[in-house]
Amino acid sequence: MFKLGWFVDGYRPQTWRGTWAGDNRHEWTGSSFWVDIARAVERGGFDLLFMEDTSMIDDTYRGSTETALQYALEAPKNDPMPLMPLLAQATQHVGLVSTISTVQYHPFLAARLATTLDHLSNGRIGLNIVTSVSHRVAQNFGLDEMYDHDQRYAMAEEWMEAVSMLWDSWQPGALVLDRREPRFADHTKVKPIEFVGKYFKTRGPLNNPPGPQRRPVITQAGTSEAGRELAAAHADAMLSIAKTPDQMRDLRADMNRRLIAHGRRPEDLHIFFMSKLFLGWSDREAQERHDESDRKKHDPQSIESALWHLSYFSGGNVDYSTYDLDAPMPTELGNGQVSTMKHLVEGAAGAKTLREVITQPGQMQGIEFVGSPGTVAEQMNEAIAESGGQDGFLIYGTEDELTRKSVAEVTDGLCAVLRDRGYIRGSYRKATFRENLNDWS
Ligand SMILES: Cc1cc2nc3c(=O)[nH]c(=O)nc-3n(C[C@H](O)[C@H](O)[C@H](O)COP(=O)(O)O)c2cc1C
Repeated sequence: MFKLGWFVDGYRPQTWRGTWAGDNRHEWTGSSFWVDIARAVERGGFDLLFMEDTSMIDDTYRGSTETALQYALEAPKNDPMPLMPLLAQATQHVGLVSTISTVQYHPFLAARLATTLDHLSNGRIGLNIVTSVSHRVAQNFGLDEMYDHDQRYAMAEEWMEAVSMLWDSWQPGALVLDRREPRFADHTKVKPIEFVGKYFKTRGPLNNPPGPQRRPVITQAGTSEAGRELAAAHADAMLSIAKTPDQMRDLRADMNRRLIAHGRRPEDLHIFFMSKLFLGWSDREAQERHDESDRKKHDPQSIESALWHLSYFSGGNVDYSTYDLDAPMPTELGNGQVSTMKHLVEGAAGAKTLREVITQPGQMQGIEFVGSPGTVAEQMNEAIAESGGQDGFLIYGTEDELTRKSVAEVTDGLCAVLRDRGYIRGSYRKATFRENLNDWS
């Protein structure tokens, strides 16, 4: 059996002019589209719906926001946090993960917000902890430029310690709720934490009582040395990129060693590997859709979008519009999403030039599965078995679109087959997100 998560690349207009986009140009700002996606994902039996977030309009590419705003690339973007309770109200079981940045949120604000959301969602909230990578984000939050990679992770480690202490600042039994005595809460069980670190200081205690999970589910998406350590110490789930079952197995083996070193068990961490699906009525139709998607990578607009994304992932350090497309791939990767960049460049086997890297078949897509639902179900199951058998996939769409249709192909097409064959859960048996995540029955 394996786990499934759905990756939403931001609360933004994603497919705003594609064939099946509906009226997403206008609709994306409200909740109706996202509610439909969340309901579908729950119908499919997914563990989680994950929402990416960043707080800026990037201008690394050509030193301008023009391309970002012309094509709606990672912008505009609403804040996903207020969407979470709306999705929670429209669903009953699926875990809801919103991204939160350790540069943008003070630990007290984050811990209090997450606890509030945990109450509102009846224990179904998760936080994806990111360090933010871009100078533009840093500048929106009072810094001149983003901290370097190691400093960001040192800050994130301290942030996690502070929020964890805040979530434990109400001891078990602190909430008395005795009307006769009367006593709402026992003040001897609600204690300051007096946290003083290099980056953050917070006295505590939290001024709201623990939610159903006490500590929301924590996910972490960096796979650098520091990212892995952060996940090993604190995360319930890791969101990761691998191209092959061997790479999946290597990451799992490495994380098992780190988890044990942190006094945790391998089963305490679930790894979700980014994957892209190409589905069809038949294997042949699916292959045609896949090949068409590869062909589109050579369109001038797709090339510009790929160069824009490389510049974006570099964290504001490298403008890929300045390089010759047919010269050797530049070695400078920037201070941004370092492991994502390495995956892109190293994953493009045999590609030498910038053009070859960005037009490589299967590039930028984690692990790919192509075929009818029955074929893809077997491919997914084999990949999990080959990689060690305890993780799952983070689906980020079919072809290049996020539409009601593309989601339904997975949740109502593929998932029905996965369920029939016993590869994914038949139903949600537990109450909270974390309990369901840890349930393999
Ligand atoms: C699946 C996935 C989701 C991510 N989501 C976000 C996000 O929402 N916001 C963000 O700023 N960075 C996001 N990132 C970037 C990571 O947080 C991290 O910065 C990046 O993977 C580089 O990590 P590393 O420096 O440890 O290699 C995501 C990365 C991956 C692989």
